Amino acid sequence: MARKILVTSALPYANGSIHLGHLVEYIQTDIWVRFQKMQGHTVHYVCADDTHGTPIMLRAEKEGITPEALIDAVHKEHSADFAEFLVEFDNYYSTNSEENRVLSSEIYKKLKANGKIATKTIEQFYDPVKNMFLPDRFIKGECPKCHAKDQYGDSCEVCGATYNPTELINAYSAVSGAAPVRKETEHYFFKLSECEAFLKDWTRSGTLQGEAANKMGEWFENGLNDWDISRDAPYFGFEIPDAPGKYFYVWLDAPIGYMASFKNLCEKQNLNFDEYWAKDSKTELYHFIGKDILYFHALFWPATLEYSGHRKPTQIFAHGFLTVNGEKMSKSRGTFITARSYLDHIKNPEYLRYYYAAKLNSTMEDIDLNLEDFVARVNSDLVGKYINIASRTAGFINKRFDGKLYPSANNTVISEIKSAAQTVEEAYSAREYGKALREIMRLSDIANGYVAEKAPWVIAKQEGQDTVLQQVCSDALEMFRLLTLYLKPVLPKLADQIEQFLNIAPLNWLAVSASLPVQHQIQSYEHLITRIDPKQVEAMVEANKESLQASPQPHSEQRHAVHQQNEVKADAVEAEYISIDDFTKVDLRIAKIVSAEHVEGAEKLLKLMLDIGEDQPRQVFAGIKSAYDPATLVGRLTVMVANLAPRKMKFGMSEGMVLAASNELGGPFILSPDVGAQAGMRVK
Ligand code: 2FM
Ligand code: ZN
Repeated sequence: MARKILVTSALPYANGSIHLGHLVEYIQTDIWVRFQKMQGHTVHYVCADDTHGTPIMLRAEKEGITPEALIDAVHKEHSADFAEFLVEFDNYYSTNSEENRVLSSEIYKKLKANGKIATKTIEQFYDPVKNMFLPDRFIKGECPKCHAKDQYGDSCEVCGATYNPTELINAYSAVSGAAPVRKETEHYFFKLSECEAFLKDWTRSGTLQGEAANKMGEWFENGLNDWDISRDAPYFGFEIPDAPGKYFYVWLDAPIGYMASFKNLCEKQNLNFDEYWAKDSKTELYHFIGKDILYFHALFWPATLEYSGHRKPTQIFAHGFLTVNGEKMSKSRGTFITARSYLDHIKNPEYLRYYYAAKLNSTMEDIDLNLEDFVARVNSDLVGKYINIASRTAGFINKRFDGKLYPSANNTVISEIKSAAQTVEEAYSAREYGKALREIMRLSDIANGYVAEKAPWVIAKQEGQDTVLQQVCSDALEMFRLLTLYLKPVLPKLADQIEQFLNIAPLNWLAVSASLPVQHQIQSYEHLITRIDPKQVEAMVEANKESLQASPQPHSEQRHAVHQQNEVKADAVEAEYISIDDFTKVDLRIAKIVSAEHVEGAEKLLKLMLDIGEDQPRQVFAGIKSAYDPATLVGRLTVMVANLAPRKMKFGMSEGMVLAASNELGGPFILSPDVGAQAGMRVK
């Protein structure tokens, strides 16, 4: 029976490039969608950029553009990357859309009408220089446990401790450098604590994988907290309808973005939105996600849907993280690879699709991209086994029989390949792609064995064996057709080329029971696929080592409140080196010390006024009191960091930093330029 299915992948944030970690999910989903479409079901696959929140707002500001301009540019980049990886969305939209604004407001109003919204005054960290409340990830300071410097407000990346931002030592705002202050503000909450009975019931409905259901069990045991769904201005997002100056937290409108993207598709294709989202919908709804965002999809999202009068997801499919060569993706090792960089070096997206598919199953286990194995597997399976079947037989049909086929009436290998259809089908349907591909490669081995045993190149030299030659090669091409059909969800572009070569209509699952008929004429065989040269992979890794990117974005505030960081996200990448771009971000200037004086009450500081060629000298508090008499400093030239965010200190604002050397043997020694340097010159 034809089913009506709506499928989503998680919406990528609009502040970074798509990388190989992201692609695990999009490729996994795309394969499933293509498979279901080949089964004859009606499937809509929608996605969008996740555009709201503080990190995007601040990044746009840093780049000197509007958030709208930033998300437009990223939307183009993401769309191109997905298209080239053959991830075929039926709609790729944006959460910053009118449809999403309307749906988010309506849903909020329904939740409110159902008594599920409460307000509460809370105390939050506030940046007094930037005049904004700070998400935890934008507060940094010294780890209260191991005393590592510059740790984020929720966890220490050195010792792994988790804590509240209030526990940080010498906390500072990652936005301005100022010491944050605590300030009261009214926030809106979704009363998740009242949804426990519903959620427990829903968890039992078979919607979640076993591991995910266990995780839910843990969350229930710990008790469900009400969910803070509002943020204060300035915030890039949707203003809450009845609360001026308050905005929906990005995670409130992000999943509603699934609906909004579908709504937009309905407008374009005249589909019935309510048929898919009404409480009593008979259609199916599947969300593919990474395991790190299970909390949002298995708690907040179904509860939001339930109490706003909508249907709930049929199933949530969570997958694990990607490792490369057994380790977290790393910029210094060159294994933090963007989609674009892969395309530039390896060119063919289907190699990666194949490799991921070979590794994927239905669990939340992590998957490893072992680069050596990637080359070996693609070359041996795709080129050595699968394509080989056609490349060793098609030439005879083209040259000797004018491209015409003459299949045998009964070939046991063909029967065996056909009878595996159900196994392959079940494996795809259950997201056991590795199993599906193992079966398909087993069948390819059998087909290759058939060709090797019949040896058409030997028959071709024998007198009076034309019919046998034509039959053997025709049968091999029928095997190739069936294997192509089975591989089509994974290798859609190659399948398309093969459909043209075989001169057949697009393959779907019904075509398993069809056959290439007698006298069917194929096109001439062109080389379909080449081996990957390991040097391409080496070059890709090298290029990624060289092009160490700008410093990571502040961690997305969203993810850390409730769950562990996704190891494959760009912001989780270790950075052992900085790039030249990073270095040139530091504005170093020759500064003339106009005045220097002691600061009352300060043990280590001198107050310096520094001329760097601006209208006014800069005030800088420098920790050099132990080594210098202020009077000796006046008139000297030194080097300062001119674009360090101003920092509010106990004694006043510090508007930069003077460079000085020191170690346990001595110092601080302030730096001096060579003779001839002048105040205001840039140091590069
Ligand atoms: O974790 C993320 O990358 C989020 N942008 C995913 C959002 S998925 C959905 F809920 F919108
Ligand atoms: Zn620590």
